[in-house]
Amino acid sequence: MSEAVRTMMQMNAEVAQETGAATADPGFLWDFWYPAARSAEIRGQKLVTAMLLEVPLVLGRTSEGKVFAMRDSCPHRGIPLSYGRLDGKVVECCYHGWQFDACSGQCVEIPSLSSQDKLKVDRIFAGHFPCEERDGYVWVYMNNPGTRLPETIPAVPALTIFSDKYKITHLSCELPSHIDHGIIGLMDPAHGPFVHQSWFWRKRASIHEKAKQFEPIPNGFRMSPHSPSTNSAPYQLLKKITGKPVTTTIDFVLPNLRTEIDQSGQMWFSSRATVTPVRRDLCRIDFVAAWNLFFLPVWIFRMFGKTFLRQDQETMIQQAEGLKHNPRLMLIDDADRPAKWYFALKANLIESRRTGAPMVHPMSGPVTLRWRS
Ligand code: FES
Ligand SMILES: [Fe+2]
Repeated sequence: MSEAVRTMMQMNAEVAQETGAATADPGFLWDFWYPAARSAEIRGQKLVTAMLLEVPLVLGRTSEGKVFAMRDSCPHRGIPLSYGRLDGKVVECCYHGWQFDACSGQCVEIPSLSSQDKLKVDRIFAGHFPCEERDGYVWVYMNNPGTRLPETIPAVPALTIFSDKYKITHLSCELPSHIDHGIIGLMDPAHGPFVHQSWFWRKRASIHEKAKQFEPIPNGFRMSPHSPSTNSAPYQLLKKITGKPVTTTIDFVLPNLRTEIDQSGQMWFSSRATVTPVRRDLCRIDFVAAWNLFFLPVWIFRMFGKTFLRQDQETMIQQAEGLKHNPRLMLIDDADRPAKWYFALKANLIESRRTGAPMVHPMSGPVTLRWRS
């Protein structure tokens, strides 16, 4: 073996060890829809790369306007298909020019074949995934590698809207964290007064005891409709304007969706945050909000929303620093109970998929949690 090859193999082994690539289970939930990109990014004949659950993807749009998602790897020799080109219908690999139908991944042309060749071109497929657009995102259904797509796949999650006219806006940010930390950070009620201290939201001194009722829902849990906390300025403003009580309903549903609906009279605000695993050490929050509150311009909302997300992001960057050293962690009652439910839901879902038995819900009925925030 040449010295160069030996060094390369050694290096590969080291990298594999460092990332735990071959052995560790990254704890991803397969067979769900995940947002891969914003719709607006996928235009013309551009091929756009994305990564979901450590699967490299190439996204594009056919000349008929349909979005598609393929594994960003040519089945011939593995070069990323994103280096090739799209003619509106087929993706052509840059290496030997094999062509694949963009929507099915089926090979339609191998230029090197002669009239003598018997190879059945149409039996060759590039990896491809169900792909749809909703709420301004391109969603990809990540079915478990090596398994067949189920006969029917569920609908792409849609943001709930309550009137014809509304404003909508999107924000996103990356977190250098494992998906589980991203998610429990998203549902954690106790960090608010510390991480999100600002004049427009709440002050640390306003911390007080709360009791919230939670109930089980399929694949998740709901903070039952309630009046939002009295120490949050925006909710108080809404109440003042409509003269009607404000009710808030917050749901968490596997694999990664947190939705919040606020209503007061005819006024409504609806938002959804998803935390999507990109790699085992990187996830992304995609946040979309829609509302018909005439007094809330998009730019004001974005300004506050960005501040909020940045506060979470900075905290997660700091946390990642600590987590590098594999510390022991704890979840306490009641403030961390939602995080415990998340882990139980995830484990029970994986177990029910393994055994084929119905999924056991970790909650047997409504529960009241108490914490100070
Ligand atoms: S590697 Fe893609 S055609 Fe050969
Ligand atoms: Fe937060």
